[in-house]
Amino acid sequence: MLILGIETSCDETGVALYHGERGLLAHRIYTQVALHAKYGGVVPELASRDHVRKVLPLTREVMEEAGVERKDIEGVAYTAGPGLVGALLVGAGVGRSLAWAWGVPAIGVHHMEGHLLAPLLEADAPEFPFVALLVSGGHTQLVQVDGVGRYTLLGQSLDDAAGEAFDKTAKMLGLGYPGGPVLAKLAESGDPARFKFPRPMTDRPGLDFSFSGLKTFALNTYTKHGDEARADIARAFQDAAIDTMVIKCRRALRQTGMKRLVVAGGVSANKDLRAKLAQLAEQEDARAYYPRPEFCTDNGAMIAYAGYLRLNAGMSEPDGFTARPRWDMGELEAI
Ligand code: KG4
Ligand code: ZN
Repeated sequence: MLILGIETSCDETGVALYHGERGLLAHRIYTQVALHAKYGGVVPELASRDHVRKVLPLTREVMEEAGVERKDIEGVAYTAGPGLVGALLVGAGVGRSLAWAWGVPAIGVHHMEGHLLAPLLEADAPEFPFVALLVSGGHTQLVQVDGVGRYTLLGQSLDDAAGEAFDKTAKMLGLGYPGGPVLAKLAESGDPARFKFPRPMTDRPGLDFSFSGLKTFALNTYTKHGDEARADIARAFQDAAIDTMVIKCRRALRQTGMKRLVVAGGVSANKDLRAKLAQLAEQEDARAYYPRPEFCTDNGAMIAYAGYLRLNAGMSEPDGFTARPRWDMGELEAI
């Protein structure tokens, strides 16, 4: 079964073709970073308009690259949520229309399910069940995954998502948008011994997170020490955020008795996080799995893949489409 996948939930337009037997045939990601940079963050209306410009040209490109014609495509998957509603409506509207015109089924994919399943696109894919740490700009969740659509939430952030905390701290330090990767780069040259930030919510039981206090800690330190201390603050912030995630992942593995840890979402591109979780896995006699870096952040491949799994299981949406800015992953149907 050959599926076209479309991702337009935020500031990346992603399009991909996934084939049940042949795997990923082609994919393209167009990032709107340059468009939003001068505003210091994503401007939803501009994001929607740019998806309108990019989604069909990218679809043509992946079809050409894969040597695929319209008649070969057997289903269309698009991100239905969560995300920016206007941006979601572009991918959903285009995806649903193409499916209707081509006479094939369509399905709306949950963006976080896409992230969660992205490591399964790799040659060395994890088997079910596993514990997943989902860390993106909008979500921070620990999930027990017993199969596709069989998700039990173990813990989540009570305030800022991990990526959001990276972005806000970066912005405060004057590092611009998108802040996460820039802050991570700056942290490499920071002194890890100079400032010590707390590890929020690790002194009590449970698997929930809180990252907003770290941002305040960073702000207070920056106000006191100024620009000269930026790299050291970035380092202290990153070390605290990562340590906190590692502590919670260790707890989740022990609590569930699982030996596989999947890490996905934009923040899973962070090199330090990947290294520290690999170390944790070794200590716990477990294994850590990540998507390749380009599939950590938003992309069409994960949507094509998650859509393939659901369409191949006979699921599809009736004509008409929905965009769901808020959508609990626990509501998904199991395959
Ligand atoms: O999954 P994603 O592309 O979009 C959402 O679904 O939100 O995640 C984007 C988030 C942003 O907050 C970005 O700053 C963060 O992932 N991010 C990083 C790194 N690369 C991306 N955070 C820390 N270190 C990185 N290397
Ligand atoms: Zn995402």
